[in-house]
Amino acid sequence: MRKKVIAGNWKMNMLPNEAIRFIEELAPKVKDTENEVVLCVPYTDLFYALLTAQNTNIKIGAQNMHYEESGAYTGEISAKMLKAIQVEYVIIGHSERRQYFNETDKTVNKKVKVAFENGLKPIVCVGETLEQREAGQTEEIITNQTRLALEGLMPEQVENTIIAYEPIWAIGTGKTATKEDANKSIQAIRNKIAEIYGQTIANGVIIQYGGSVKGTNAKELFEMSDIDGGLVGGASLKVEEFSKIVQFEK
Ligand code: PGA
Repeated sequence: MRKKVIAGNWKMNMLPNEAIRFIEELAPKVKDTENEVVLCVPYTDLFYALLTAQNTNIKIGAQNMHYEESGAYTGEISAKMLKAIQVEYVIIGHSERRQYFNETDKTVNKKVKVAFENGLKPIVCVGETLEQREAGQTEEIITNQTRLALEGLMPEQVENTIIAYEPIWAIGTGKTATKEDANKSIQAIRNKIAEIYGQTIANGVIIQYGGSVKGTNAKELFEMSDIDGGLVGGASLKVEEFSKIVQFEK
């Protein structure tokens, strides 16, 4: 059985004092869940979040990293730097980074490799635009993004990659993919992984859904056969709402 991983993506929100208060309030609410709880926070919150989350079941992640280890890359943060302060997860290739910061399938692939080399768990985002969806290209786009992100990885690394299927038209719009549509896209991603790396590996890969996940729709989405939890943006900024999503079974 694959574990459900519920990851919050705070994006460019939350000051350190807000992050500390959030985690202090969230921790007792989610302490009994069997789901993996992750908060991907801004760089400036990481250290505070890690300290506050110590001795809780909340894991901390970053939202991006550079693929080089060190050097003249002003403003960038390396995987090694994240690992040094004991960050566990890192989001790679979020559509906002692809759209605004020139992230490509190539840089995504480099980052995924470097994340593994440094013992970080990558959450790799894939997803189609509205135009691509309307042109009937969804499966082609997301399976290609997946193939390119995983290229050259060892099988056990593929198995430990978390994929977040996030249709771009559903991010921050209040529009959610139907549970059937989301499940179908995620099955297409899993089938592609099976085609390249074999069914056993594919069966182990955690594939989340992201895009306007809320307390009111988490249960129906996460109970689908292939949806292994979610990557949650807006709704991860409120303790009550996020804890509801984490404990969607209740
Ligand atoms: P949203 O964002 O939940 O606000 O739609 C999801 C994401 O961008 O990861």
